[in-house]
Amino acid sequence: MAESELAIGDVAERSGVAPSAIRFYEAEGLIASRRTSGNQRRYDRPVLRRLALIQAGRAAGIPLEQIRAALDTLPAARTPTRRDWERFSRRWRDDLDRRIATLEAIRDRMTTCIGCGCLSIDKCELLNPDDEAARKGAGAHYLAQPSRREAQSAGRGRVLKATRQSGSVRPSIERRNS
Ligand code: FES
Repeated sequence: MAESELAIGDVAERSGVAPSAIRFYEAEGLIASRRTSGNQRRYDRPVLRRLALIQAGRAAGIPLEQIRAALDTLPAARTPTRRDWERFSRRWRDDLDRRIATLEAIRDRMTTCIGCGCLSIDKCELLNPDDEAARKGAGAHYLAQPSRREAQSAGRGRVLKATRQSGSVRPSIERRNS
């Protein structure tokens, strides 16, 4: 075995990815190996970086198809350079930014009305009166984005804040809308 090559057990041990998952990723075309005369898999060392990124992509919720498409942009015949990895990362950046924004919105909305139809918390009456969110169909419509009323209120808050800076709005009104 060439010194830079790794058997599947070595790859599993170093990457923390189970041999069955390594074989699965190979069958799905995300990584590649060569076979020895005894039909054993041998991997080039950069496979560890690919596996780490596959795991990271899965942890971030990126579908395997998209991970494969991004990995397909890397050269197959040589070890990827930093420039290759930069190009790879650009493909994921927009998607990751969108996912981060969605997760942040969900985190920030845990304590307010999410438009799910339960009408069970104090803000529901204000933000989802008579379950108006149901008109949008099934689901919790305000989970990742504010309700129309909340957005309007936030807009008013910004206007009031700007107006207050000119000295014409009472501080209590600004607090209610911020
Ligand atoms: S939290 Fe369910 S409708 Fe408001």
